[in-house]
Amino acid sequence: MDTILSVEKLNVYYKNKESLSARFRQRAEKNVQHVLKDVSFVMKKGEILGLVGESGCGKTSLAKAILGMQKQYDGEISLDCPNPQMVFQDPYSSLNPSKKIGWILEEPLRMKKGEGRLSKEARVAKVDQMLERVGLDAKLKDHYPTELSGGQRQRVAIAAALLCDTDFLIADEPVSALDVTIQAQIIRLLLKLHRELGISILFISHDLRVVYQMCDRVLIMKSGEILEQGKVEEVYQHPAAEYTRLLLDAANL
Ligand SMILES: Nc1ncnc2c1ncn2[C@@H]1O[C@H](COP(=O)(O)OP(=O)(O)OP(=O)(O)O)[C@@H](O)[C@H]1O
Ligand SMILES: [Mg+2]
Repeated sequence: MDTILSVEKLNVYYKNKESLSARFRQRAEKNVQHVLKDVSFVMKKGEILGLVGESGCGKTSLAKAILGMQKQYDGEISLDCPNPQMVFQDPYSSLNPSKKIGWILEEPLRMKKGEGRLSKEARVAKVDQMLERVGLDAKLKDHYPTELSGGQRQRVAIAAALLCDTDFLIADEPVSALDVTIQAQIIRLLLKLHRELGISILFISHDLRVVYQMCDRVLIMKSGEILEQGKVEEVYQHPAAEYTRLLLDAANL
């Protein structure tokens, strides 16, 4: 299988603002936080890779670096996909509250220029097709994001990402804000889309059970380091790191 993403010896540092002020200059080194430490892994095309780790360990920082939202880093990131997309934990914040769902979903299609340009009818047809694909009624196009449930909003966010014609999705805790039954529905949807469209998904979660249901392989992260990685069954049955065993115990797995 081809590689879609390769990350090699990635290091990310955040500078705290105080380090810029003269008062703190002599303590500047202390104000630099080393957030990702020599992170290396590869992801195959069509794979669902899990990224697990406690709050603050650096998962979103890794996602941002991969998507070019965090420009300052040391190391190599190569992503063989033109249009990577992210689905966030909180679909409230990722959907423009002042626009109706139909407008939001048409937006990436309106942006297409040149040969890829679509007529209004073609855009509407694509949006309707995608709404059906993610299990939403076309009537929702006339609603605002605040009028939708959390699960419906997350479906809209997934539809919006897919309308960007992407092969690669980073889902950053996409179900953490949802009730358990809605979580299961969104997981089933992501698995269906993966099956139908062959997209690669980097699935970020702190929930080992969800990762077990979703992922082929998993990365275990602690304090900015990848402690171990491998097939989900193997890592869960024979964890190499003490930390992984603790996480599994805590999840009763
Ligand atoms: N823009 C930033 N500037 C300075 N520090 C940051 C910035 N973004 C994140 N951090 C710090 O970097 C560390 C890692 O944050 P990150 O958001 O990557 O963690 P996370 O694993 O995604 O956590 P969570 O599970 O809570 O979402 C944290 O200590 C955080 O406070
Ligand atoms: Mg995060």
